[in-house]
Amino acid sequence: MNDFFSELVKGLEPYVPGEQPKNKKYIKLNTNENPYPPSPEVIKAIREAANEDLRLYPDPECEDLRKTVSDCYGMKHKQIFVGNGSDEVLAFSFGAFFAGKKIFFPDITYSFYPVYAGLFNVAYEEIPLNKDFEIDAADYFKADGGIIIPNPNAPTSKYLDTNKIEEILKSNSKNVVIIDEAYIDFGGNTCISLLNQYANLLVIHTLSKARSLAGLRVGFAFGSEELISGLDRIKNSFNSYTLDRVALAGAVAALKDDSYFQETKKKIIQTRERTIQALKALNFIVMDSKSNFIFISHKKLEAEFIFKKLRDRGILIRFFNKPRINNFMRVTIGTDREMQVFIKALEKII
Ligand SMILES: Cc1ncc(COP(=O)(O)O)c(C=O)c1O
Repeated sequence: MNDFFSELVKGLEPYVPGEQPKNKKYIKLNTNENPYPPSPEVIKAIREAANEDLRLYPDPECEDLRKTVSDCYGMKHKQIFVGNGSDEVLAFSFGAFFAGKKIFFPDITYSFYPVYAGLFNVAYEEIPLNKDFEIDAADYFKADGGIIIPNPNAPTSKYLDTNKIEEILKSNSKNVVIIDEAYIDFGGNTCISLLNQYANLLVIHTLSKARSLAGLRVGFAFGSEELISGLDRIKNSFNSYTLDRVALAGAVAALKDDSYFQETKKKIIQTRERTIQALKALNFIVMDSKSNFIFISHKKLEAEFIFKKLRDRGILIRFFNKPRINNFMRVTIGTDREMQVFIKALEKII
């Protein structure tokens, strides 16, 4: 290990993101991006923001964006934190609420959580999903530490009802409970409405998925004023300007164009349901999905074999060589055309 590294860096196990190939044109169904471009209003706003004002620092308080988020979701703007992708908001949350303490999350979940735990010296305990790969709310009652749950969960795509989340919140009034709603727009109900009753709840959103802006890096947190002030303290001890002028302009435009958002979201949900039917006809087991991705396994062929064969045919999906899920594949929902090519390729492989 490099002698220049600090003990902290020596001990890290960094996250490995899904492949972003540069050499060849693939059908990319591996990183849960949106197959549709961002709203034309976003492109226009970004072009307009690319002007001489770039010599000036952006607004460190992100007032315009927070005001737009607050109009969209009906929250006070002091209950909103904005950051450079929800990954940054998640990292700051680990620092603000859990550093040096303990946290609980599912054994099969977003693989960045253990990485943030390593970075902020957070002890963590993984709670196994049940045999149907679902979160059992009772497993989180009276936890002796914080809790983080993605809803829908990734990579399983399964959704937990808001009333179950409320039970977890009720029995953990002394612990911060984070609900990571990166994929909530694809069919689930957000638990933002619970914020006024539960001061221990932090809900995290992103523009990367349903708003087609993974490349702009914008995420939010909603919570009590107290929790938001904790996030502000961390941010202002790290970088006052986490969102640049271009990102701020694009994010505001994205949130204002509701009809484009509704339209693309609907198309993805319809394509998802059609894809599920086609996969079932090919002997795949498909978990219920309320996300822009599906989690599948074939009744006869091994996941790794299918993953490699698809790659040879120019289609990227995600295979996790991890206990319990090493015979599953995560497939992002693309356009109808992309999913037809995917299904055709599977027919040939099978
Ligand atoms: C569950 C979950 N949370 C958060 C993120 C991070 O999203 P972003 O940093 O692009 O906002 C992802 C990305 O794939 C995710 O799957």
